[in-house]
Amino acid sequence: MSQTVAFRTTFNPEKLVRPAIHQLPTYTRDGGPEEKPAREIRLDWNESPYPPSPDAVAAITAFAAHNRYPDFDAWTLREAIGRYIGAPASRIVAGAGLDNVLETLIHLLIEPGDRVIISEPTFMVYEWLVRGHDGDSVNVPLTPEFELDAEGILDAIDERTKLVLICNPNNPTGNLFDVKAIERIVAEAPCLVAIDEAYAEFAGASFLPLMERYPNLVILRTMSKFAGFAGMRVGYGVFPDALMPYLLRIMPGFCNVSAVATAAAVASLADDEYNRAVVARIVADRDALADQLRELPGVEPLPSATNFLLVRLPVADAGPVQRELAMRGIYVRHFGNPAFGMGDCLRVSIGTTEENEAFLGELEAILGARERAA
Ligand SMILES: Cc1ncc(COP(=O)(O)O)c(C=O)c1O
Repeated sequence: MSQTVAFRTTFNPEKLVRPAIHQLPTYTRDGGPEEKPAREIRLDWNESPYPPSPDAVAAITAFAAHNRYPDFDAWTLREAIGRYIGAPASRIVAGAGLDNVLETLIHLLIEPGDRVIISEPTFMVYEWLVRGHDGDSVNVPLTPEFELDAEGILDAIDERTKLVLICNPNNPTGNLFDVKAIERIVAEAPCLVAIDEAYAEFAGASFLPLMERYPNLVILRTMSKFAGFAGMRVGYGVFPDALMPYLLRIMPGFCNVSAVATAAAVASLADDEYNRAVVARIVADRDALADQLRELPGVEPLPSATNFLLVRLPVADAGPVQRELAMRGIYVRHFGNPAFGMGDCLRVSIGTTEENEAFLGELEAILGARERAA
């Protein structure tokens, strides 16, 4: 009895949690303004401003078997994805969003001290996942032009390096990397190379065909962006055959994709016409917004192959502009880390035409007021 009491009094959550977790930052949206603005336009998380295909919405409405588990190995979903991308379902791992597939990949590979090479600025989840598994996230930064340093990446690989993670097109810079640089890394790296193609449908480019030639390539995708599925949480990876026996041992039960999300995803993937039209609309709106931004003095949108724009402003620090936009109900992202070379930039997701116009109008007003005050 007294032992139990002693045990209870020494319960210490801080001690229970692995040290690696203590070191991690908390992933949150930027704090919003204290007073909630009357109108809110979310251009900060690269979501689609459009709903999923009407077929997907109808499938969600018609779905009733919520009391039943989905297919055990998500086979129906994996087959639908396979048909969509032209790859065998047996090489596909699905997940509750690509974040979940990334987690499965890191769980598969990383023991304490193992290394993963990333190129910052890039999707921040990579670093946190690796560190959370006690791995070493090794940064070989992008060049000042936001290009991949293929030579530097290959030089950084050592015997503890398990994975090179490349985001193409890259978030948050928006650009596609040089094809030859990526192919060189895949061809010469003695480890796994994973290419995160979350924005592939907007780029119209993919390294999937390269999987035929290289046994060390993984392609990662999501339905969050092009198909308007951010809230549904459906992502996937296409893996080398040789890794599948191991992945099948750690793949989360049911791939973590709900039965209703599966029904929606199957319907959405079959409605290519709708998805393509949405992507074309977002790309056209992105290019129109870039043209309009270029007309503002000192404003320079960088080339984008995604559903967002990284925009350079004529200010040393774009943080105050981001906060001013937020007070006016327009949420965009700012990456202040000086090492990223993006302190003067904002990342803005492409919204509806009206939302883009609202962003443009408010940005013009804020920059104009700053100019007059200077
Ligand atoms: C490059 C990249 N990878 C992965 C993800 C996560 O996608 P999902 O919504 O499928 O988890 C995102 C989302 O913003 C992303 O930008």
